[in-house]
Amino acid sequence: MPKIPKDRLEIYRELKRDFSEDKFINLHPIQRGGVLSPEARRAIIEFADGYSTCDWCPPKTARLDMIQRPPIAQFMQDLAEFLGMDVARVVTRCREAQFIAFTMLGNPGDYVILDSLAHYSTYTAAELARLRIKEVPHGGYPEFRLKLDAYADKIEEVRRETGKLPAAVLLTHVDYLYGNLNDAAVVGKICKEYGVPFILNAAYSAGVMNVDGKKLGADIITSSGHKSWAASAPTGILAATEEMGEKLFARSRIVGDWSQRKFSFKEYALLGCTVMGAPLMTLIASFPHVVERVERWPQEVENTRYLVEQLERIEGTRQIGVRPKEHTLTHMESDGFYRVSQTHKRKGYFLYEELRRRGIVGIQPGLTRHFKFNTYGLPREKVERVAQAFLEIAEEQKLKAS
Ligand SMILES: Cc1ncc(COP(=O)(O)O)c(C=O)c1O
Repeated sequence: MPKIPKDRLEIYRELKRDFSEDKFINLHPIQRGGVLSPEARRAIIEFADGYSTCDWCPPKTARLDMIQRPPIAQFMQDLAEFLGMDVARVVTRCREAQFIAFTMLGNPGDYVILDSLAHYSTYTAAELARLRIKEVPHGGYPEFRLKLDAYADKIEEVRRETGKLPAAVLLTHVDYLYGNLNDAAVVGKICKEYGVPFILNAAYSAGVMNVDGKKLGADIITSSGHKSWAASAPTGILAATEEMGEKLFARSRIVGDWSQRKFSFKEYALLGCTVMGAPLMTLIASFPHVVERVERWPQEVENTRYLVEQLERIEGTRQIGVRPKEHTLTHMESDGFYRVSQTHKRKGYFLYEELRRRGIVGIQPGLTRHFKFNTYGLPREKVERVAQAFLEIAEEQKLKAS
């Protein structure tokens, strides 16, 4: 039997995270909205064991979303209501939510229309669902603004090419590259006119800002617990109108040909149950905190605008994407820091290293000409420290600041 040497196993016994919140200001775009609330930190210990949510699983239905103790069933309803939808389920990731939506709405070979700033996982979800895609273009540098009206052109294009409508339309509410916030209601209206299901990918919006699916005309909302709901990975959200919910959460009809076994309570696209343990409980425990925090969104955007303003004082440095910022995820372009990197002994790594020396992480190592950050959830005093650090580094490197 193969044996793993004992000394090799030692490294697994005491795991430590390098960039914990109490030691560093972490600006990584994917990290800010997933920082746990104190309640979630307690829940993760309480529900740490295996199938910890399942002690009181109702034997007849045996389904995660029907468990009353802890209050999972109630949470699913509150979650749907919070998003302005009728029904919600927790799945493992936003990408899984998208995959389920694509699979349940389309047949192999059908088209789905998506925005050209969608995350790679939207593309791969469509690919795994065996769908074809058509992309809605953006306007390019420097704003990269999506051409939302082109959703109608793309629907027409699909109709001309295939003689039928696309299986679905997807819009990334806030993209991961520039943090542009799109007016989802424009796409919602187009979809309604054509009668095409509208999936709003709210991975970077729901959970940090108010998102009301009904108002925006969304039929389905997907989101990411570990990105924007102060929850541990893996947690994703799939919410829908009642009509779409019937399609997405269709019950199993399979019958064993020999045993005649049936599983008619199980929602087959979810493979019955999804996140049956600690990550789900962090999402639930953080819910009151999330409901409260979305009201503070204007202050969060204000902090980001302040940081952009400070960074733009540095020569050759400017924010790209739509201006002024409407979201906390930000993309900067800096010819100044890039020029420094050309002669610096640490090359492009100097910026990361200088920031880290000052207790700031999350700007990707090696990047200077283009880098991203997210200030979400940082108190103003920490945002000011970040601005100060960048200005200090610029000064040390003899870059001018206005
Ligand atoms: C817009 C968008 N959607 C989805 C995802 C993936 O989320 P998850 O890890 O929950 O699948 C990302 C990840 O960065 C993203 O930026």
